[in-house]
Amino acid sequence: MLELRDQDYVIQRVRAGVLEQGTMDTLREAGVGARMDREGAVHEGIELRYDGEGHRIDFAGLCGRAIMVYGQQEVVKDLIERRRADGLPLLFEVDDVEVDPDTPKVAFTHDGERHELTAKAIAGCDGFHGVCRDTIAHALTERTREYPFGWLGILAEVAPSTHELIYASHERGFALHSLRSPELSRLYIQVDPHDDIENWPDERIWEELHTRFEKPGWTLQEGPIVEKGITPMRSFLVEPMQHERLYLAGDAAHIVPPTGAKGLNLAVADVRVLAQALTDWLRGGDASGLDSYSEKCLARVWRVQHFSWWMTSMLHRFPEEDEIQQRLQRAELDYVTSSRAASTMLAENYTGLPYGWEAA
Ligand code: DHB
Repeated sequence: MLELRDQDYVIQRVRAGVLEQGTMDTLREAGVGARMDREGAVHEGIELRYDGEGHRIDFAGLCGRAIMVYGQQEVVKDLIERRRADGLPLLFEVDDVEVDPDTPKVAFTHDGERHELTAKAIAGCDGFHGVCRDTIAHALTERTREYPFGWLGILAEVAPSTHELIYASHERGFALHSLRSPELSRLYIQVDPHDDIENWPDERIWEELHTRFEKPGWTLQEGPIVEKGITPMRSFLVEPMQHERLYLAGDAAHIVPPTGAKGLNLAVADVRVLAQALTDWLRGGDASGLDSYSEKCLARVWRVQHFSWWMTSMLHRFPEEDEIQQRLQRAELDYVTSSRAASTMLAENYTGLPYGWEAA
């Protein structure tokens, strides 16, 4: 395990916080789910809010599955701790990484010394800005779509004003109320992706949140903002996700817009497929799982790309949208919140399709 940043950066960086049912199960099976089960919160639904009204999507009733609210950096902490406890190598602040997918080989600098690792296979889990995808770019087709908006996210030291996540569609733009703990709220608003966080003093953020979440009889509680930032949104992927003996997983291979919190969950799904394929190959000499790695992952990747795009399109304001587009969004929201079939579609995608669903 080679990591560019230092350990503090990795465990303090605030990321998303929703784990799908399958991700929870995977972490438990891997023996890293104990703290998640103690400190995380299982949620059996979310609220869609528009026109001052809330509509609950009942995951448990619709598809018998749930999600876990547990910060991604908490998962990272648990994985680091486990890796150390197992006495397996985990190097931070690794620089100048070079990857050779044919041999395969990885060269890197750590503590001022150059090292070279010879391997049987390389898992390229080095994120959107990592070196692995670039190294095999000649063998990949890239697809990108930028969205004309971003999310301004805050972490606030205040008890969440809601028990379940609220996804709000408002004429001034999308807003999301999430949470991290009984004392910590995580909130987002749609903003211009090129906007500067300096333009958003705390009072302006709270004012915008109050407006977008407005519902008679409901109050948003304010507290000190301890973290804030603006993130652009894009859909991105490469096909295939492998070349020679280098296998891309997670953000190295794909980015989804954040609506629906799929990024980490999709990465875990990739890694699950890759771990099984590597085990079959290294223990039993069967390379068929590795050969079909990309094909198997991409079925889920495209499904999740669609779901994230769909949630994003239904809930955000687009620049220069016309009345037809607004009425279409409204028709979609009315359908999703009134039809059992439509809300089941949301529920089963949000909680995550079961592993292997595509082969059924
Ligand atoms: C969170 C992030 C998301 O993108 C989302 O859809 C739901 C929750 C979060 O950070 O808690």
